[in-house]
This record gives sequence, C-alpha cells and structure tokens, in this order.
Amino acid sequence: MLYNYNTYHKLMVDKAEQSVAQMKDFVAEDPMRMKYHFMAPAYWLNDPNGLIYFRGEYHLFYQHHPYSAQWGAMHWGHAVSKDLVHWKHLPIALAPSESYDLHERGGCFSGSAVDHDGVLTLFYTGTVVRDENVVQTQCIAASHDGISFEKYVGNPVISGPPEGNAQDFRDPKVWRHGDKWYMVVGSSKDGKGRALLYRSSDLYVWEYFNVLAESDGSMGTMWECPDLFPLGDRHVLMFSPMGMGDRQTVYLTGQMNYKTGQFTAETCGQVDDGFDFYAPQSFEDGKGRRIIIGWLNSWEWMPWFTHHGPTSQNHWCGAMSIPRTVEMGEHGQLKFLPVEELAVLRGEHYHVDRLLVAGMEQVLPIEGDCLEIIAVFRLTDCDANEFGIKMRVSEDGQEETVLSYLCRTGELQFDRNRSDNWSQGIRKCRVNLAENGKLKLHIFIDTCVVEVFANDGYAAMSNNIYPKPDHKGLKIFSHGGKVELESLDIWKLKSVWQ
Ligand code: FRU
Repeated sequence: MLYNYNTYHKLMVDKAEQSVAQMKDFVAEDPMRMKYHFMAPAYWLNDPNGLIYFRGEYHLFYQHHPYSAQWGAMHWGHAVSKDLVHWKHLPIALAPSESYDLHERGGCFSGSAVDHDGVLTLFYTGTVVRDENVVQTQCIAASHDGISFEKYVGNPVISGPPEGNAQDFRDPKVWRHGDKWYMVVGSSKDGKGRALLYRSSDLYVWEYFNVLAESDGSMGTMWECPDLFPLGDRHVLMFSPMGMGDRQTVYLTGQMNYKTGQFTAETCGQVDDGFDFYAPQSFEDGKGRRIIIGWLNSWEWMPWFTHHGPTSQNHWCGAMSIPRTVEMGEHGQLKFLPVEELAVLRGEHYHVDRLLVAGMEQVLPIEGDCLEIIAVFRLTDCDANEFGIKMRVSEDGQEETVLSYLCRTGELQFDRNRSDNWSQGIRKCRVNLAENGKLKLHIFIDTCVVEVFANDGYAAMSNNIYPKPDHKGLKIFSHGGKVELESLDIWKLKSVWQ
C-alpha cells in the first residue's frame, strides 16, 4: 500500500516535538505531577488512542495538544511500556498536516491501532471545519519501525457517515473477526447516539454494514469512542455518551450477530462512576487479558469551569487511568480491576488486623500522597450510619477527601467538597456487599487523583483532587455506631519517573 512520505507531516511533527521539548523540564519540576500515572511530558492530553500489544510492547497513543495546556488542534502523542507501569515517551506519531485533518479546531481525532502483517497501522478521524460545518472522515497511517508514521495516500478511507446521520462521525475502533476487518464509529441521528459498523476485506476499502446499536433516547445524544469486544460468552459494547448527565462511560453486554451487523444488549452498566473517567479504550494483550485505559477527566460535568484543573497553570493537563482488566462477572455485569503489574510499585508497608472503629475518627500512623490501600470492612455487626477513609487530610483537619459507605442506602460516596480550594462535588454509586457481608475497598492515591475499586471491581470511581503537597494525613472513621475493619493494608508507592 502506498504511504505518503510527506515532508510537511514530518515538519509538523518536529515542530510539535520542539514545543514539548522546550517545556518538559519545567513541567517535570511541578510538585503536582503524578508519580505513577501516565501524563504527556508537557501540555494537553485527552483520550487514550491506538492501544495495542505489539511485538512484545504495550503502545499507548493519546490525544495531545503540544502547544498549550488547553484542548487544541489534535496530535497523537505516543509512548511504550514493557509492563504497563513504566512508560517511555516516543516522538509524536501524528500531527495535522493534510486537507482532511489540518484545522485549529480539528486535527487527528481519536482512533485505534491494529497489527497488519507486522505493520503498526493506525485509524483516526480527520477533523476539519468548513463553512462552520465539522467534517469528520476516517483515515489511516502506518509505521514500519513502530515510531514514525506516514499517512495513507488514499485517505480518507471513509469520507462521511451514511445519509441521514449527523456530521458527528468519529473515533474508529478496528478489529479482525474471521476473514474480515470490522470498524465501529461513533455517531448520532435525530439527537440520539449510535454506533455504526463497517467491514473490509483488506483494511483499505470499507463498506457500510449496519447500525451496530443505538440509543432509545435515554442513552445520550452522541456516542464517543465506541468499542466492541468479545468477553466470555458475550460481547461488550462500551462508549462515552454525550448528554447523559452523570453517566459518562457506559457498557452494554449482550450478543453480537456478525450476519446482520447488529448488537443486542442484555445488560447495561457504568464503567466508572467518578467525575473524572472518560473515553476508555480496550485491547487484548499477550496474556489474553482484556485491558482498558481511560482519560482521567471528562468534558461535561464542569459547566461552571472554563478549564480542566489547576495543573494547566503549570503547563500540563490530563492523565491516563491506571490500566484495568475487564472480566465478565455475574449476570452480565463487568468487573474492572487494576492490573497486577502495579504491585511492583509497592514500598513501605503498614498492616493492621481487626480494628474496631466505634463512632470516632482515628488517625493512621502512615500517610502520603502516593499510596495503595486495601481495606476490608466486616458489616455483620455494624450499626454505624456511615464509615470510611479520609485521605489527603491537612494538619489542621480543615481539608480532606472523604470516601465512605452509607449503610442505609448501600452506596459508596466520594466527597471532594473539602479536598482543596478548587474541586467540588459528591459522587455516589451502589455497591452490593459480598455474600459474607464484607466491603472491600481498593484505593490508589497519586498526587491529584484517587481511583477506587469496590467489591472485586463491580464498582470503580475515579476523581481528581488538588490538595497542597503537604496534605497527606489518613484517617479511618465511623459515624453513629461501630464497624469492624477486618484488615487494612497500606503501601507507599514508588514513582516511575526517576
Ligand atoms: C472524546 C473526544 C472524541 C474525539 C476527541 C477529540 O473525548 O471528544 O470523540 O475524537 O475527544 O480530542
């Protein structure tokens, strides 16, 4: 296939690289930088793109604006890892350079990667604005060395949505099934989100197949970043709906019919119930695991803010979630759990067994802003109304972030109203207790994010907070009665960036 060795693309990549290189040392000094979450070396990052396990390495591409800490003309940043924990930055892979992707309000939008006979091949949405109309088309780029990418001369390979669909037409996710390639693209019709299915025999010539699935009116106005994959005896359709309120990342489990090109949903759930988790993408790795990574922010929850958080003043913004495995649980519900590789980060350890927390707060003898916590509560003799963990507590106790279980409603609550002087809001999600009446919380704290996994991954919550670096205290508490903390393990985690 013909790829365009385009000197203008190379020029745009080099220019973007220089911009990031000039800022990265300054950014690295920022005490708010995370210690083990993936971030761009400088400036803006949003969705994970092109996740793939390729020739023994994990590749992570990402939506990147290499000129400011705000969203802008989209490039694809690029990094590799051997263990999903330590990442090495590589040169920017894609820059806007062609008539179909060169625009200050457009660029190379989200997409995916496949291994095409040993060639790392990327699919992305070229976005431009013509006469105030957004024009989105599906495009290909490829690389022989896995580092520098060239755009396909025949781009765009899909020049627009089928008749009747809205102009929103983006985020191609490509996979192989049987002797064909398939692509799902996010779109919308009559104000209802939908996923469109395409197929191809050679990866270059695409034929529209069917509407894979669509909203009945209750599932958002546009489905961003759709992703279809097999899991256990079902299929999963995951997407990030716009206009669905608190529901930012939805999954449906059900049956895929490759004869008709339609997916039939049987169950529905949230990938993550926090404020700050959006646009996850999945891939299968060499160990046969299905893994997702999401962007630790979102677009819609913050109408009262004009920017995505205080770090943008320090010339960077955005991070990726820790990688999570996806497993099929009971009744078609999914379980999301942190990958086991993260255990290499564990340092100093604190452990306590059978602690009775009886209507008060207890300061723990270990503290930090970079921690992993596993707390198992036994609720059989619990008469508290609420209990949980306070994190990033300031010395005077005025600032704190509270994760608690509300015993009356069976909900897990994340309260960041007193975390710092920027964050706001409370998020809740229902947690079904294990049959033995236990609640297990698995928590990852890293500078400005807290990711929580409850009861073996049936619930996950990711939220950003921006406390001062010296606000590191940890407390355990209960209100209105007692609860037994059956075991508590806390590890200080090491930084991956030395
Ligand atoms: C999701 C998204 C995608 C789009 C990209 C642009 O966050 O809006 O739909 O491709 O970001 O950066």
